[in-house]
Amino acid sequence: MPLIARIERALTTHLEHLDSPNAPPKLIKAIHHAVFPGGARIRPQLCMAVALACGDDAPELTDAASAAIEMMHCASLVHDDMPCFDDASTRRGQLAVHKAYGEPLALLSGDALIVQAFLCLVRVKHIHLERSMELMRVVADSVGAPNGIVAGQAWECESRVDLGEYQRAKTGALFVASTCAGAIASGADPQAWRGLGEALGEAYQVADDIHDVMGDAQQLGKPVGQDAQHGRPSATAALGLTGAIKYFERLIQRAVESIPAGPGQNSMQILVQKESERLVPRQVIAHSLALSS
Ligand code: IPE
Ligand code: IPE
Ligand code: MG
Ligand code: MG
Repeated sequence: MPLIARIERALTTHLEHLDSPNAPPKLIKAIHHAVFPGGARIRPQLCMAVALACGDDAPELTDAASAAIEMMHCASLVHDDMPCFDDASTRRGQLAVHKAYGEPLALLSGDALIVQAFLCLVRVKHIHLERSMELMRVVADSVGAPNGIVAGQAWECESRVDLGEYQRAKTGALFVASTCAGAIASGADPQAWRGLGEALGEAYQVADDIHDVMGDAQQLGKPVGQDAQHGRPSATAALGLTGAIKYFERLIQRAVESIPAGPGQNSMQILVQKESERLVPRQVIAHSLALSS
């Protein structure tokens, strides 16, 4: 089964537990709006690809970990778009949850997704208790404080911010959790996959900063110009557009070099190169290198 189909199936299966006649209907609709249709689903793809490279001997654990990570990501986007953060009206080509359902349900649907993410992992503990517990720890670390998304978003409330620290927490941590979770779900050593998550996570945020400057809101399905508007630290503000593009190129190189040797190496390299081309096409990189030479 293609990875994307497997991810959609895992998300649908794990979200079905919310569909109860006792649940407030608008909350359930807001949660579905936050998760479907998806964006690139890059984090669960990474988790599954690493699990496959490590043998994927417990696919239900891999599915639960991938669903949990994507739910955490969707929750972070719902909260990120709210007026108290970036005040963005659109996400993934549709209205942001707070615009479609109002602020209280945006806050609550994000909260519900965070709780559901942990329940995904609780649900599979009978398959392998130790691995499930370790998955919960890794996912929790990447979402909370001091190193996860909560900390990353909180850096926006400080007057002095280190760009690397901010981006590692805001974006990198969940990428690291994605690669490590794929290994843990399959009983492999997560440390071997950390470097890939770190490099790709940083590359992803640098690309997001580049899109914020030169992207098209229609095509991206979300507003652009947000970093400048809110005075956020960004790779383009720190390095300039050309500098950020060159840095992105170096990070992708590092990501490719970080992939451990083994049976999954080739397909993982293809996934990273495909993502790189989607994020910042080669043509853009070549143009920027030509301008600066
Ligand atoms: C957007 O993430 C927020 C960042 C951390 C860069 P994605 O670009 O992965 O968003 P979707 O899931 O594809 O919409
Ligand atoms: C979002 O960062 C990272 C999260 C933790 C949600 P941004 O605010 O830079 O991402 P976009 O551009 O809104 O997707
Ligand atoms: Mg933000
Ligand atoms: Mg934002």
